[in-house]
Amino acid sequence: MAAPVPIAHDVASLRAQLSAWRAAGETIVLVPTMGALHAGHVSLVHAGKSHGTKIVMSIFVNPTQFAPTEDLSTYPRSLEADVAKFTEAGGDLVFVPSVDVMYPQGFATTISLAGPATVGLEDRFRPTHFAGVATVVAKLFNQCRPDAAVFGEKDYQQLKVLTCLARDLDFETKIVAAPIMREADGLALSSRNVYLSAEERLHAPALYRALTKCAEAIKTRQPVEAALEEARIAIAGAGFAIDYVEARHAETLASLDQLAGAPVRLLAAARIGKTRLIDNIAV
Ligand code: PAF
Repeated sequence: MAAPVPIAHDVASLRAQLSAWRAAGETIVLVPTMGALHAGHVSLVHAGKSHGTKIVMSIFVNPTQFAPTEDLSTYPRSLEADVAKFTEAGGDLVFVPSVDVMYPQGFATTISLAGPATVGLEDRFRPTHFAGVATVVAKLFNQCRPDAAVFGEKDYQQLKVLTCLARDLDFETKIVAAPIMREADGLALSSRNVYLSAEERLHAPALYRALTKCAEAIKTRQPVEAALEEARIAIAGAGFAIDYVEARHAETLASLDQLAGAPVRLLAAARIGKTRLIDNIAV
């Protein structure tokens, strides 16, 4: 087994290594994560390899993107296993800052968002979430100055928010989108899937099945609202409490009311037991 990749715990040692690589002509790709790596994260590392020569993964469970009622304290943490998986995937350096490194005493700045961050999807149920995500990602971009950064389409609204952030604030980092990885039965891979009981795990793929059926119906020109309603009934019937099941413009996430011919994305969030799952597919 290969020796584990080095870990930087502070910004100075991260920058020292990155500067040495840049001086040697390497290009840097950042894969930001909160750890608890699964095959979806590994696919982000592989996707990153087409966009640079050195892959850096950040592992930081970012407190500012969790509401007080959410799972910050129980979020799965598995640093040793994560470093082994990243090493195996051919990564080069892990950045694991502490909360004090990222948010030192007196930290007082938050990025204010509009556009795709305020379209009434995740933001309706997690109103402070994207400000926390955008602030930590902006810090990571400044700390690493990566040529590219890879984000999964699983968090589709997050991907659009961060694409907008990079464009609006003139980050030189290219945002790379990587497709969702799924279990054989269709369930989207997520670090939070470990929360599912055996019974809930059996029912969980109903979310993806309903979205797939809905996308097919829309493609065959069934009215969008009727197809969505059928999906909501199927998802609720599998035991989920629905937060939203919606069809949106695939780029802006705007409502589709007056956008005939626009590229469409179906997005859903629903809770089964104590676990909140999100998923999305292209139409
Ligand atoms: O998608 C995630 O894991 C997180 O939201 C991110 C982008 C690493 C920011 O904490």
